Amino acid sequence: MILRITEPEYALMTQYIEAHCGIHLERDKEYLIESRLADLVAETGCRSFQEFHFKARTDASGKLRDRIIDAMTTNETSWFRDKSAWEYLENEATPNLLSRVAGGLPARVWSAAASTGQEIYSLAMLLDEKAMAMGRPSLPDQVEMLATDISTTALFTAMSGRFDAIAMNRGLPDDKRDRYFRKEEQHWVLDPRIRDRARFKKFNLQDPFIFPHSFDLVLCRYVTIYFSDAFKRSLFTKLASVIRPGGTLILGATESLREYTGAFEISYYKSAVINTRKHER
Ligand SMILES: C[S@@+](CC[C@H](N)C(=O)[O-])C[C@H]1O[C@@H](n2cnc3c(N)ncnc32)[C@H](O)[C@@H]1O
Repeated sequence: MILRITEPEYALMTQYIEAHCGIHLERDKEYLIESRLADLVAETGCRSFQEFHFKARTDASGKLRDRIIDAMTTNETSWFRDKSAWEYLENEATPNLLSRVAGGLPARVWSAAASTGQEIYSLAMLLDEKAMAMGRPSLPDQVEMLATDISTTALFTAMSGRFDAIAMNRGLPDDKRDRYFRKEEQHWVLDPRIRDRARFKKFNLQDPFIFPHSFDLVLCRYVTIYFSDAFKRSLFTKLASVIRPGGTLILGATESLREYTGAFEISYYKSAVINTRKHER
């Protein structure tokens, strides 16, 4: 039988989760904590959420914290998620990135809530196709592609470049599957030439943004929906500080930075919102 959470325990657990990954749970989400943490609570032998909370709070190794974050994050993703946004990325962003590196300039991309990697690999495939069409197949090697996430298990899948049939069936066109993947028993394995162009790192968006260089393009998609207004404000300010003037921030179709920062010029590409970092006056 599933362990029930009491009201005071719910307050303790939601504070713990928000403090460690920024995920803000409103009232009435008891079922979410009960169901997502059920196995972990059982595994630790705790008989109440109060006991579980105490164990998590006093776990010096950080291992239990990481497993709680893994269980509470939603890693839902797909290839080429949102048609208009990817048309923009294909027709505007990828040619711009390639022309920067062709002209000797740096080009840097960050997928800031990368989940299992479909987002950064979708971009890597587009860059590869464009570069091939230009007769410059090795040009994408010079585009720096960083992908980060807070979830260790999501990153593990991302780095492996191995996807099951369910993941493959979510938005990946057949021609790209045939060109870039090889079937290995129950899985599809991404061409290492594409896989190795992305660098994966564990990173919590709550942490300070200390990067040696600014980014030309940041994808921070379908993650701010889980955050409080205060966290969104600080996150968008931090994102503005690491995107070069003229660089672009793409959010999920249901997300907006309009209420939180004036650092971006907002324009549209079909139904996609394009946030361009303003030049300082
Ligand atoms: C719904 S997925 C979105 C994946 C991808 N960006 C997309 O649009 O398909 C949200 C991701 O954000 C990550 N996430 C949640 N809180 C985070 C935080 N504080 N720092 C970094 N990543 C976080 C989750 O682990 C999850 O993989």
